[in-house]
Amino acid sequence: MPLEKESQQLHLQLGPFQGITDVHYRMVFKDYFEGIDKFFTPFFTGIQKDNSRSLRTDEIDPKLNNVKVTVPQILSNDAEEIIRFSQQCKAMGYNEVNLNMGCPYPMVAKKKRGSGLMPYSELIGSMFDRLNGNLATDFSIKCRLGYNDPDEIDELLPLFNSFNLSELIVHARVGTQMYKGVSDVDRFASIIPAVKTKLVYNGDIFSTNSFQIVQQKLEGIQSWMLGRGILADPFLASDLKGISTSLTSEERKSIVYHFITALYIRRREVKGENPSILGRMKEIWSYMRWSFDEPLTLWRLIRKVNTFDTYDEAIEQIFSELTWKGSGYSIATPAREVD
Ligand SMILES: Cc1cc2nc3c(=O)[nH]c(=O)nc-3n(C[C@H](O)[C@H](O)[C@H](O)COP(=O)(O)O)c2cc1C
Repeated sequence: MPLEKESQQLHLQLGPFQGITDVHYRMVFKDYFEGIDKFFTPFFTGIQKDNSRSLRTDEIDPKLNNVKVTVPQILSNDAEEIIRFSQQCKAMGYNEVNLNMGCPYPMVAKKKRGSGLMPYSELIGSMFDRLNGNLATDFSIKCRLGYNDPDEIDELLPLFNSFNLSELIVHARVGTQMYKGVSDVDRFASIIPAVKTKLVYNGDIFSTNSFQIVQQKLEGIQSWMLGRGILADPFLASDLKGISTSLTSEERKSIVYHFITALYIRRREVKGENPSILGRMKEIWSYMRWSFDEPLTLWRLIRKVNTFDTYDEAIEQIFSELTWKGSGYSIATPAREVD
């Protein structure tokens, strides 16, 4: 059942995915799909100077991004860098920046960054002391329940509450889990009473059904970040809001075809026909394949692609022979395997 009553109040966010939900994905997505209220850039790093090179790219260009609904994200544990980032984002018209405290990769985590920062409450405390009153924009955090242990967040909540965060997004896993296992909805529920800021839930929302189960457990939560579920089925947000529920499978497949083709053409134009685009497209297909009736057949077609011509042939075959089912991602979905 679509969530008619609540649908108007639902606030849905598109989670950031490094290498996938870049500016081109976000732009083309908005042309074909509805339901997302807020977008996040994948994380920036290395903002060493005032006029940073990495902030002079399409990724954050205000002409290509809707600055009102897009939040630039930074991966850092350095208050000065976060302040520089916030100032430069403000100058481009953005109103909020987001700190990534969720990235699980050991190379990042061992440097006390991403979710690897979560066990260090003193370091976070001194970082907040410096940030307080010195940021040019609003400030939000995306974190996990902890790096090693879901109890780590309990120690951080007083700190988070003492800072005027615009929102706290919690992916209900621990860092060492990476993206495996299940999102711990009950543990997320247990922190709700202790959080004084707007709280956003993230983790394993893959379909209207899985959303309703999570929603019933999380009373009072109105904002939700969608991740792999919306990469697999870009109608997920509009379905949760009851906007696209009348579309047939054929109509959906046709929209997905136009979306993926527009994105491919855009990437080819922007990247000057660089074959690295094929790797980018494969990344998206590694998720979207699960929304077709024969994911394994689809993957066999896509994974061997190595030229634009072979990509075009694979797309032709996928859309003429396979059926769109939607909501294909599930907890049982095997781990991502992009070669
Ligand atoms: C390949 C990949 C790249 C990601 N990149 C980022 C990122 O740049 N910033 C971030 O905050 N989260 C990133 N994430 C995490 C997702 O935004 C999201 O929090 C995670 O997938 C959990 O949500 P889900 O269970 O609904 O997929 C990434 C995840 C994956 C698998």
